[in-house]
Amino acid sequence: MLPSCEPYKIKMIEPLYPSSREERELWIKEARYNIFNLKSDQVFIDFLTDSGTGAMSDRQWSAIMSGDESYAGSRSFHQLKDTVKELIGFEYLLPTHQGRAAENVLFSVLVKEGQLVPGNAHFDTTKGHIEFRKAIAVDCTIDEAYDTSKPHPFKGNVNIDKLEELMRTSSDKVSFILITATCNTAGGQPVSIENIRKVKNLADRYGKLLIIDAARFAENAYFIKTREEEFKNKSIRNIVLEMFSYFDGVTMSAKKDGIVNIGGFIALRSKKIYQEASTFNIMFEGFLTYGGQAGRDLAALSQGLHESTEFDYLESRISQVAFLGERMKSYGVPVQEPFGGHAIFIDALKFFPQIPREEFPGQTLVVELYKAGGIRSAEIGSLMADRDPVTRENRFPALELVRLAIPRRAYTNNHMDYAAAAVGQAFEAAQNIRRGYRLISEAPIMRHFTMELEPI
Ligand code: F0G
Repeated sequence: MLPSCEPYKIKMIEPLYPSSREERELWIKEARYNIFNLKSDQVFIDFLTDSGTGAMSDRQWSAIMSGDESYAGSRSFHQLKDTVKELIGFEYLLPTHQGRAAENVLFSVLVKEGQLVPGNAHFDTTKGHIEFRKAIAVDCTIDEAYDTSKPHPFKGNVNIDKLEELMRTSSDKVSFILITATCNTAGGQPVSIENIRKVKNLADRYGKLLIIDAARFAENAYFIKTREEEFKNKSIRNIVLEMFSYFDGVTMSAKKDGIVNIGGFIALRSKKIYQEASTFNIMFEGFLTYGGQAGRDLAALSQGLHESTEFDYLESRISQVAFLGERMKSYGVPVQEPFGGHAIFIDALKFFPQIPREEFPGQTLVVELYKAGGIRSAEIGSLMADRDPVTRENRFPALELVRLAIPRRAYTNNHMDYAAAAVGQAFEAAQNIRRGYRLISEAPIMRHFTMELEPI
């Protein structure tokens, strides 16, 4: 058998500036050791996020040119509506400008003060929109997710016993159940159909809605095909349809598996909820047939959804992420396994065991990767975990991770080789670094975006 490779070739390129270590040391100091403060031209390989950073296809660019900019009833909206119906089987569609906007609109209908929203680990903005309404996001992810070296094919799964216990004791307070697939917070880890069926069964028994945060639904479907015996001979399209068939509603950040630079949507089965959400959509996002997007954005998204649900694309995408993971492992770098769908996560506590958590070993690693190779990554650790809202003490989550998120169709495997070598070099020099960073300024919430640091 021949090896698999990308089912596309490159038509347009964007030059990158290969800076020197001396330049990067100066730039990161000027940025007060916060990689969000860097100019993108100062970054060689940008693994900050896979959100809105993918490369569109020639067909998507053609769709841009034929987008219909009518305020109401746009042809591009109807195209997208048909695509959503065809690929995921939902009748009602509300476009939004991105994923968190979909959360804002739908939760305005569904979430009330004091309620609970259980599920696998909620993404930050999802949790934010739940907590903003004085409700609680209850994390019911399986325990295996929190051990970076423990093998499990579906680390994004919901712990059914924990969810059942919660439903038994407090179902009256539960607003709905939410599954995020793949589960970004747990490391881009997938959720199995077997698990979704069990959650659906519980939701039905207690008369609750089941909602999916579908940002990376196609990557999740790929893992189902390749890891869940029952589905190995099914097509991605069939798996996607079956996966969505268990849900009552969808929030989507199209910046991931829509392969567009901006966009999102809500999809629903209930006309009643659609009508209630429509009012909020008009208030927050725009009229029902554009919701904060240009007609051309809707057209590109419709095409992007067709492309992201092709097996050959998904195979090359997920293989590239795994390629980076394997290369990093070959340098001895401690990474989360199995590898996620959109990112490789480094275990910073194993990379820098000598640096106390109060000195932010995750962020220390982010800075070292930037200095070593101009690689921009993201800390998912104690800076991001913020302070306890009551005691104002730093919170130290179970894991201190650094995420290297791979944009879709944007980099080649040579870039992955380069990045892995840079990480390997930083790993070799890791024992020479004894101290981390201290905060010199921070915002009261979401501090990691704007904080300033200095080396200790
Ligand atoms: N849900 C998940 C699972 C996400 O990963 C994100 C965004 C959102 C919702 C919110 O969508 O950004 O379009 O408003 N994740 C990005 C990331 C930001 O880097 O992981 P959005």
